[in-house]
Amino acid sequence: RPTKATILTMATASALVLAACGGGDTAADGDGGGADGRSLRLALNQTEEHPSFIALENFGSTLDEATDGRWSIDVYPNETLGAQAEALQLVSDGSVEMAIVSGPQLENLNEDFVVFNLPKVFDDVEHQMSVIHDPEITGDLYASLEQSNSVTVLGGFTQGARSVYTTFGPVTTPDDLAGKKMRVQESDLHIAMAEALGASATPMAYGELYTGLQSGVVDAAENNEVSFHTQRHYEVAPHWSQTNHLVGLDYLIINSDVLAEMSEEDRAAFDEAWTAAHEEHTELWMTATEEAIAAAEAGGATFNEVDEAAFDAVLAPLAEEFITNESQQALFDAARAAAE
Ligand code: GCU
Repeated sequence: RPTKATILTMATASALVLAACGGGDTAADGDGGGADGRSLRLALNQTEEHPSFIALENFGSTLDEATDGRWSIDVYPNETLGAQAEALQLVSDGSVEMAIVSGPQLENLNEDFVVFNLPKVFDDVEHQMSVIHDPEITGDLYASLEQSNSVTVLGGFTQGARSVYTTFGPVTTPDDLAGKKMRVQESDLHIAMAEALGASATPMAYGELYTGLQSGVVDAAENNEVSFHTQRHYEVAPHWSQTNHLVGLDYLIINSDVLAEMSEEDRAAFDEAWTAAHEEHTELWMTATEEAIAAAEAGGATFNEVDEAAFDAVLAPLAEEFITNESQQALFDAARAAAE
């Protein structure tokens, strides 16, 4: 795991790069934002073909138009502003305004976020989206990082169902992962998840994973089909095993001071454009998943069925292990109630 010192060093380095690029926006740069307009830099770790990039670009144009150029968004894909742990730090200190970060990253700042990272909390994408955009359920949670970190959570995009893929062959039950090295996102829950599957957990940033799989630093990973394809992981770990062990979640975060600078009118336009963006993302997701499967198969990947019950059995105890306080229990209960 990166230490706080490395995160800070990287954050400083990225801030210098940004300063050198010229952080502000001008009417002449052609990317929206009028003369007095403010352009929000948004850090993303996905490629330009990923549904998140597409929906965020459209979010930016809608916002630009709706506010007559007073606010616009510049999406930086491919970890150009840093991997998610750095991006989170940069948004917190205000050197980048916005980012998409995976749920496990926020679990490191407030343990209540762990609830939405658990296997089995969400039945499917529709259920997940209805819970995470319900202010009655998430209002306090999303505001909880404002005092401590100057970060406001605005909602999120689905990551769809995540499954396991390996360099060495299909897995049918967790036994097939025994002793294997599995890349996980940087969180205690994800480490525990890999260990429950019998693997040894290697936390690693997303952008390092291709090389990690290729060089044998790790033998396995877990993600959705869209990432499997857009990151080209299928080239080096072609054996996909359909575990569907959890429905993952990405959050859109923004620096709280920046958000506070918006007039009431612009904030309303911002919220409306964001709602349209996450709805578009959900619509794009199914098609993107089907296309990713077809493209990965054409590139030599194989998609294999697993004994899902065997995976569920070893992962189910994680809920009890990680839900340790009342607010977590309340979030879990509210999420489950919305499924029924
Ligand atoms: C998905 C998710 C990313 C996350 C990545 C990961 O692609 O959308 O936000 O970083 O998984 O496994 O790290």
